[in-house]
Amino acid sequence: GVNEVLAALLGYAIGSIPFGLLLTRAAGMGDVRKIGSGNIGATNVLRTGNKGLAAATLLLDLAKGLAPVVIAGQLWGEVGQAFAAGAAVIGHCFPVWLGFKGGKGVATNAGVSFGLALPVGLAYAFVWLSVLAIFRISSLAGMAAVVAAAAAAPLFGYPQFFPVLAAIALLIIYLHRTNIARLMKGEEPRVGGSKE
Ligand code: G3P
Repeated sequence: GVNEVLAALLGYAIGSIPFGLLLTRAAGMGDVRKIGSGNIGATNVLRTGNKGLAAATLLLDLAKGLAPVVIAGQLWGEVGQAFAAGAAVIGHCFPVWLGFKGGKGVATNAGVSFGLALPVGLAYAFVWLSVLAIFRISSLAGMAAVVAAAAAAPLFGYPQFFPVLAAIALLIIYLHRTNIARLMKGEEPRVGGSKE
């Protein structure tokens, strides 16, 4: 219905704001898409060497997943939340403003997960931070977290959010295919490591 369309438009409009690109440009650091992996996410912003910009990108990309899901929940309930959730991640990954070439969705989906249900967000954060602490590989931690969020939804009493979180997980893993190829060759750079 019309509510689902509105929720999806809200999610896409907020999710498609490319904070990583906007912040690095505003800081006079040029185009983040020309360095490292070419991604516009916080991990690649960190490769500029500016930790503050990377942290700001992480928080803003997380907030743009959280905000539309919370707003949609207030206005339209759980179905609206699910539409806003999927649309926010799609907006981040395929922003019309950048010719549909955006990021990989890990930070935005963290915010989405917290917006859908606190236990799902906590599972996401726990797995993300744990895998990052152990392996220090951002892409691996992100992929583990998105799968954990999808699994956590039915386990913690939110089966209604499983379809959207599972679809998001498949999309995010697909967007990491070059990372997966590097991981299998043992060539994926570590966060704060010497291979950057
Ligand atoms: O969120 C993106 C992250 O999982 C990988 O980023 O720049 O290492 O491809 P990057």
